[in-house]
Amino acid sequence: MKVLVATEKPFAAVAVDGIRRVIEEAGYELDLLEKYTDRADLLAAVANADGLIIRSDKVDAEVLDAAKNLKIVVRAGAGYDNVDLAAATAHNVVVENTPGQNSNAVAELVFGMAVMAARNYYNGTSGTELKGKRLGIQAYGQVGRNVARVAKGFGMEVSAFDPYCPDGAMEAEGVTPLHDTDTLYSGNEVVSIHIPATPETKGSIGYDLITKMPKGGILINTARKEVIDEAGLEKALEARTDIKYMADIKPDNADVLKEKFGDRVFFTPKKMGAQTAEANINAGIAAANQTVAYLRDGINRFQVNK
Ligand code: 3PG
Repeated sequence: MKVLVATEKPFAAVAVDGIRRVIEEAGYELDLLEKYTDRADLLAAVANADGLIIRSDKVDAEVLDAAKNLKIVVRAGAGYDNVDLAAATAHNVVVENTPGQNSNAVAELVFGMAVMAARNYYNGTSGTELKGKRLGIQAYGQVGRNVARVAKGFGMEVSAFDPYCPDGAMEAEGVTPLHDTDTLYSGNEVVSIHIPATPETKGSIGYDLITKMPKGGILINTARKEVIDEAGLEKALEARTDIKYMADIKPDNADVLKEKFGDRVFFTPKKMGAQTAEANINAGIAAANQTVAYLRDGINRFQVNK
């Protein structure tokens, strides 16, 4: 059996070594397609793969059509909005993710960006501290929980809004539960977004919510660009010259925002939240183990297209 690792944004070499070990110890063969820029390369590489390990790489009906032997796709990471689940199900292909494996890396980047914003990009002027400030977390999943843990180290007051979080779970971790997004945005100087991109969340954060933030608000998005109403964000930044927007995912109107708002907006050049050796090792090796577990034993514990 062949397992293809197809990553337009490659894992650290040490993670690829670990993935290779898991695949080869199971008696399977590993194919590696990294940094591809032409989709035709992915379509060719996937043709004889039984298993496919990806990151944010797009797997749609075209890829699934080309992958005649494919039985499982594992997204080495949390969000699987890059995989067409309905098409995978129609092709009898199991889709899994590796929840939690890269969440600390994303949480640490939140604070990298929060400190940079609070200190005015280290431009020589006096900034502010995070200690004593209120941090609101939008979605209390694996990344949100790690953000809360780190925030407490900074001495921040932490609250979160997540309608899907079991009762009592936030309180048990010293986090104040909130009951709506209005309160989340109006009550916190720093808001960190961790919602997935779904039909309900897409475009859900715009002018009304952003302009509710207290003076000097910092909005941090390490989730997905699609959850932002970009026109609304632009309008909010125009209306509220004290607010900063920091994102790990360039919005489509990044150039316009940068030109209009300069250092009040910041975008990583490529999605970097999960780009650490540790996160690559954790997510990559979990993906390899899950691929083998399914191909060899039919175990599908992390299947997301059941
Ligand atoms: C995820 O959903 O796990 C993160 O957004 C990381 O994505 P990446 O593997 O493309 O860096």
